[in-house]
Amino acid sequence: MCGIVGYVGKEEAAPLIYGSLGKLEYRGYDSAGMACIANGSIVCKKDIGLLEEVDRRNHLVDMPGKTGIGHVRWATHGSVNQTNAHPHRDCKNKIAVVHNGIIENYKELRAALSLRHKLVSETDTEVIPHLIEEEMEKGESLETAVLHATQQLKGSYAFLAISTEAPGKIAGARKDSPLVVGLGEDGSYATSDSYAFPAQVRQYAFIDEGEVIVLDQGGISFLDSSGTPRQKEFLPLKISSDAVDKAGYDHYMLKEISEQPETLRCSLIQDKNYFTELAMDILRAKQVVITACGTSRFAALVGRYLFSKVSKKFCDVIMSSEFHYFADSVDAATLVIAVSQSGETADVMEGVKRAKEKGATTLSIVNRPDSLLARISDKVIHINCGPEISVAATKSFTNQLAVFYLLAYSMVNKYDWAVERLRDISYNMFYSINGHGHQIKNIAEILADRKDFYYIARGINYAIASEGALKLKEVSYIHAEGMPAGELKHGTLALIEKGVPVVAICPNDYTFDEMLNNIAEAKARGGVIIGVSDRFDPIYDHWIKINQVEEIFYPLVTVVPLQQLAYYLARCCQHNPDKPRNLAKSVTVK
Ligand code: G6P
Repeated sequence: MCGIVGYVGKEEAAPLIYGSLGKLEYRGYDSAGMACIANGSIVCKKDIGLLEEVDRRNHLVDMPGKTGIGHVRWATHGSVNQTNAHPHRDCKNKIAVVHNGIIENYKELRAALSLRHKLVSETDTEVIPHLIEEEMEKGESLETAVLHATQQLKGSYAFLAISTEAPGKIAGARKDSPLVVGLGEDGSYATSDSYAFPAQVRQYAFIDEGEVIVLDQGGISFLDSSGTPRQKEFLPLKISSDAVDKAGYDHYMLKEISEQPETLRCSLIQDKNYFTELAMDILRAKQVVITACGTSRFAALVGRYLFSKVSKKFCDVIMSSEFHYFADSVDAATLVIAVSQSGETADVMEGVKRAKEKGATTLSIVNRPDSLLARISDKVIHINCGPEISVAATKSFTNQLAVFYLLAYSMVNKYDWAVERLRDISYNMFYSINGHGHQIKNIAEILADRKDFYYIARGINYAIASEGALKLKEVSYIHAEGMPAGELKHGTLALIEKGVPVVAICPNDYTFDEMLNNIAEAKARGGVIIGVSDRFDPIYDHWIKINQVEEIFYPLVTVVPLQQLAYYLARCCQHNPDKPRNLAKSVTVK
């Protein structure tokens, strides 16, 4: 789950690479490093910490050279230390490599290479420069050496290599990890994510598995797995740089929470006929399984409820990391719906591949339009929320919910009706976000010293309780649990004592009275009740007033204050909500 960048061109490489790495930090931020070729030598700087900290200590942007590669790391193999940070080099400091992925046969390769090479890190990546070194010593070009190296690698990789033997060149390859190339007037770029291209890049291209790319002063070329050059189609790049900056907000998380009224409306830019077709697929399928991880899984749980309640279609939700344990029940009559913001989460990808092997039809619900998941699924729905940079998912969640509403109502021929309701909700959200900030900040200040939070709800909002708790854990590091309110008395109530916050989602609907009973049980043990409701009750210690909406749509209005609460608690605890420790936005490891 790392981010990689490469540049060859007329400009100094370091500032361009640094700029792109900043946009890739959502992929990892425990270490950062860069290597450039200047005066026939490799200059390499790397260290632990955020990119900005590494730059402050090592002056990354001042590195000379017009050819360079860079990396931001999320450690998998080898602890977080300077030696394990990328780039990694060969024995003679003539080759440098940055890598995203996992080389599964690295132990065997390390053992074999150690007989002839000096390996200094604990990483899987370090085998790559040494494999390239062996090939180049046989007289191979950098690109052929890369091609031959990939033939020895098992696992997933996207890597870029530079060599002093070919000073104006970068070669790279990918398998199961993302890598795209872009052409600018000043030079050629390669990166894990097209969002990271600088503004001068106007065209980009995907790299197919098995291909080797070569970036040099002449542009970008592609070789197939036999080393034969191939033509590639470049696509216009249409990403506004506004979408990937903070636009005056302190953090991306707050910006993305605030964008939700607008992004929700973007989720409605869909083709009604296509949704009707998908609705038929869902209704016809013998069984429907939804698979996802993290926040996307909670959106799927709301989806399950909607399918059942609105369209009377029962389905199951299986977390993707557990999917293969259920694969025996998947067959050609199964529809597997995969939900993923990034479209590259390894567990989700694995589940979908398993489903395809079993002959199932696959439908993915993704945000990243050019994601690997979108490209391997039979059918795709784009949630259209634009780049989501903060590690904690917010606007992608509400857009995933919107898509589930559209699917559920398409099954009962009420697509247009759902679009209208969702549009109304988006205006509702706008007033709610702007009206609540101050109050929620105050509540966060009062409760910032608490060690545990419990989130309870019933029915369709149960998944929202779970999502609220996940958000809090992710960004504030406060322990939190979300559960159906009726389950509280079956164990968790033992943990409620004086001062423990209980966030109760209790809209004024068919769950209200029973919610109040469960709240009373918590209150009687000393719980501090934060009621998220459109109906006041004196039992609340703090009342976050939501707008009244039709009961099936409550999740869209109850989740937003919970996102705000998590954000302000993270701020009170002095954590950067955009870069929670140990986490990354795209989890490309299993
Ligand atoms: C990571 C992120 C979560 C996200 C999950 C699934 O754990 O930190 O915010 O919900 O991955 O990501 P996906 O891109 O598949 O929705």
